[in-house]
Amino acid sequence: MWYSATKTGINEIDLEHGNIDIMLTMIISHKVDEELVGKLIDTLLLHFQSEERIVRKMGKSFPQEHHAEHEKLTTTLRQKKRQWSNGELEASELALEVKQILLNHFSEFDAFLNAE
Ligand SMILES: [Fe+2]
Ligand SMILES: [Fe+2]
Repeated sequence: MWYSATKTGINEIDLEHGNIDIMLTMIISHKVDEELVGKLIDTLLLHFQSEERIVRKMGKSFPQEHHAEHEKLTTTLRQKKRQWSNGELEASELALEVKQILLNHFSEFDAFLNAE
């Protein structure tokens, strides 16, 4: 599990990442109904909000650049969901693209969430 192997050290966030990881892995390996794609995107959009809320609850401020990146990703993911429902993008193809996007996002932003 790539996502859960890379930890922020903030439990709640790591659990959400682990959950997303499982969904992606299942879609990539064709183990589930294609309908999970819609659920994956919805879960991710909620995760961005949740991540920001969890960090603020810890009394930290959420970095503006990280927030801006979440907004950008929200647009990208909505676009991919549309392409998938139009039949322009296959479920496993979408999941592989999303996985790469999230790996980059993690190493550029999420990895530093627990830093002072
Ligand atoms: Fe995250
Ligand atoms: Fe993030």
